[in-house]
Amino acid sequence: MSKLPPFPANFLWGTATSAYQIEGSPLADGAGPSIWQRFAHTPKMMVNGDTGDVACDHYRRYKEDVALMRELGMKSYRFSIAWSRIFPEGKGRVNPAGLDFYSRLVDELLAAGIEPMATLYHWDLPAALDDRGGWLNPDIAEWFGDYAATMFRALDGRVKLWATLNEPWVVTDGGYLHGALAPGHRNYFEAPIASHHLMRSHGRAVQVYRAEGKHQIGLVVNLEPKYPASQSEQDLAALRRADAYMNRQYLDPAVHGRYPEEMKEIFGSAWPEWPAEDFALIRQPMDFIGVNYYTRNVTRHDEQSWPLKASPVKQTQATYTETGWEVCPQAFTDVLVWVKKLYGDTPIYITENGSAFYDPPNAPDGKIHDPLRIHYLRSHLNAIRAAIAQGVDVRGYFGWSFLDNLEWSLGFSKRFGLVHVNFETQQRTPKDSMRLYSRIVASNGTVLDDEGE
Ligand code: BGC
Repeated sequence: MSKLPPFPANFLWGTATSAYQIEGSPLADGAGPSIWQRFAHTPKMMVNGDTGDVACDHYRRYKEDVALMRELGMKSYRFSIAWSRIFPEGKGRVNPAGLDFYSRLVDELLAAGIEPMATLYHWDLPAALDDRGGWLNPDIAEWFGDYAATMFRALDGRVKLWATLNEPWVVTDGGYLHGALAPGHRNYFEAPIASHHLMRSHGRAVQVYRAEGKHQIGLVVNLEPKYPASQSEQDLAALRRADAYMNRQYLDPAVHGRYPEEMKEIFGSAWPEWPAEDFALIRQPMDFIGVNYYTRNVTRHDEQSWPLKASPVKQTQATYTETGWEVCPQAFTDVLVWVKKLYGDTPIYITENGSAFYDPPNAPDGKIHDPLRIHYLRSHLNAIRAAIAQGVDVRGYFGWSFLDNLEWSLGFSKRFGLVHVNFETQQRTPKDSMRLYSRIVASNGTVLDDEGE
């Protein structure tokens, strides 16, 4: 018998995706280009030259995809809205056809009994706004607020769960500091500015929501708990920097109205002083915190690593996924308990969790056997139960991802899907992990206690 508690009644079970990763047809029906459209079409930026031009063709196949979710018993679905479909020039003129796509998607979900969660920003900034400085331009908080208001007015009667930003850390670290993601900048001075305007934009959207909206809104962060490689003072200081940079940089201002002290140590003269009114804008009460969890990091001091002076230490006894991430369910429990300790009792949704593993393409029985992903899924769901046992208020789980999709600059080379996609034929095949997930959802998690499941 498991000592783990059951999942709460009404636990929201679903899967997640994002617009550029699955939709395809990025310029259809009057949409403007996004920074990902540009980035993906820039030579050498994407593995194998892959782009989101077609991806999972979800823009045209959304009805079949929702039908599949329904068949698989999903209760909810987290998707993102492509800002440049709604505002082709980033601001000003609204494109009704863009609004209509998301309106139809939401209607389809509701008709299938699936609760939608909409993310306003999952990395695909309108290129027209990037031309005006993008996340470096302070005006972006107003542009984002206007876009958010437009979506709340169009969908809030039907969408009850809203996320402002997906993973601001990735937006700045990948987009402005190391350049592996759009818009591909490598600039120590820009990264803190982009972070700050992301957070002002988050605050502005929540403010607008309080005036316009009726339901729930939160911020989605990716958390990667840090553990020290040793108890040496140097390693412990490295751990604090890494933790501040990745885990506290966004939740501290959103919840407590300040940045972690270590940010100055990391960025030195590139870390600006911001006016107090900015923090008043950023610190808006949230209805939930969205946590994306994939992996943890054992951290050591490393003079060569820029700008953190901290590096991960490879664990010899661990399993790593195809993206090189250690599988560590215990760290998932730890990080959820940590969120409660540092940020209080705001309810939590697990807005993403999942793994990329090699999937044999053509099993003779026509199925996709993915035992490693099954192990990941089971152990991470049990890790959530262990956190619930310690008093953490987790309200739902969105597996990443519903479909194999465009893994950003890694293209289609990494498969995170619970449903396999053949990118030549667009055929969808639920993997064994998805079949198990369906049974988990149908039983509200109790099958996790069954032998052999
Ligand atoms: C992102 C997803 C991404 C996933 C796997 C998260 O950081 O929100 O868009 O595909 O991780 O890398």
